[in-house]
Amino acid sequence: MRRRDFIRAGAFSGIAAGTAGTLAGSAQPLAAMPLWGGRRMPDGGVRLNANENPLGIAPAAKEAVLEAMTLANRYPFEQHAALVAKVAAGHEIAEGQIVLGTGSAEVLQMAVQAFAAPRARLVMADPTYEAVTNYQRTESYELVKVPLNANYEHDLGRMREAAESSGRPALVYLCNPNNPTATITPSADIDAWIADAPEHVFFLSDEAYIEYVEDKRMWSAMRWIEEKRNVLVVKTFSKIYGMAGLRLGYGIAHPDTAARLSDFASRNNINQLALAAGNASFRDKALLEKSRKTNSQARMIVETTLDELGLERLPTQTNFLMHRVSGDQATYRNRMAEAGFLVGRDFPPMLDWSRLSFALPEDMERFCETLRDFRAKGWA
Ligand SMILES: Cc1ncc(COP(=O)(O)O)c(C=O)c1O
Repeated sequence: MRRRDFIRAGAFSGIAAGTAGTLAGSAQPLAAMPLWGGRRMPDGGVRLNANENPLGIAPAAKEAVLEAMTLANRYPFEQHAALVAKVAAGHEIAEGQIVLGTGSAEVLQMAVQAFAAPRARLVMADPTYEAVTNYQRTESYELVKVPLNANYEHDLGRMREAAESSGRPALVYLCNPNNPTATITPSADIDAWIADAPEHVFFLSDEAYIEYVEDKRMWSAMRWIEEKRNVLVVKTFSKIYGMAGLRLGYGIAHPDTAARLSDFASRNNINQLALAAGNASFRDKALLEKSRKTNSQARMIVETTLDELGLERLPTQTNFLMHRVSGDQATYRNRMAEAGFLVGRDFPPMLDWSRLSFALPEDMERFCETLRDFRAKGWA
């Protein structure tokens, strides 16, 4: 079904009526969407390549979005303030410690603009989420990539050496859990560095997937924001809240740091619909539990299959994992796309690994059937 037809077929009114189908759920709209890398999939294809939440937004958030359409002609001053107040209360911090962004991507951009001073070093793991590298042409920082250690954790010793050795300002990007590996770096080790770090080292803790984490060795770097001006925590509504398409994230920091950051936010950046959905979803226990439960069911299906097929996998604390695939990755991905599953992309230097996002358990069952078939044919 083409996008136009999908809209005509009343998908949007289905949402309004609160039908069981979810906005981003399962397969229907996917075939109508532009695909990455020019690959086309048969109808019913499933996106396992962008770490999205297959459940879509919560029913209450859908209703709130539809209601917010009546405010589309109004600037969102009050709604913006209301969400900031709600998030601040939820985290038990002051409103002045929060900066909203159009996705955490905007907060990461603001952070690079605000804290990667000219000729500063930006120190990051390799591989990790690349967004902070996008601004090399406009911000003149020196990028230093430090390979993950043998446990696929951030190599904090080498990162520290890279950040502190020059004596110049450094922005340290910590993605915990890390994308694309889905592994965590123990927070006690990060805390030890933060406690001891000089003021010119600024920590950017990207916690996009923290709500999925079960491993007790990881916790939020938020514990530092009262005491330290050089820590910024970044969070998103895109993952566990299922709002990737609405674009909403936020940064949390010391009030002085948040004020510096907000100088780089565009005016009235968050739209009415995203604010409404965020307000209706934030800390919604049922939504969080359902997302976690669905994710762990999907994860177990995948892990069992990978083990059965003898394909090495990394431990995951997120809504995706990395596993080995033998043979040429691009060929594997193209064949998977033809079979209806859009998976991974290249994450150098881990070029014989595939990053797989979890969709609904039934979709992962179908994916696993295909993977078994591929393995039998020597395609994986
Ligand atoms: C670690 C990490 N940070 C940030 C983002 C950006 O998320 P958004 O801009 O949708 O909040 C992603 C998206 O995949 C991510 O994996």
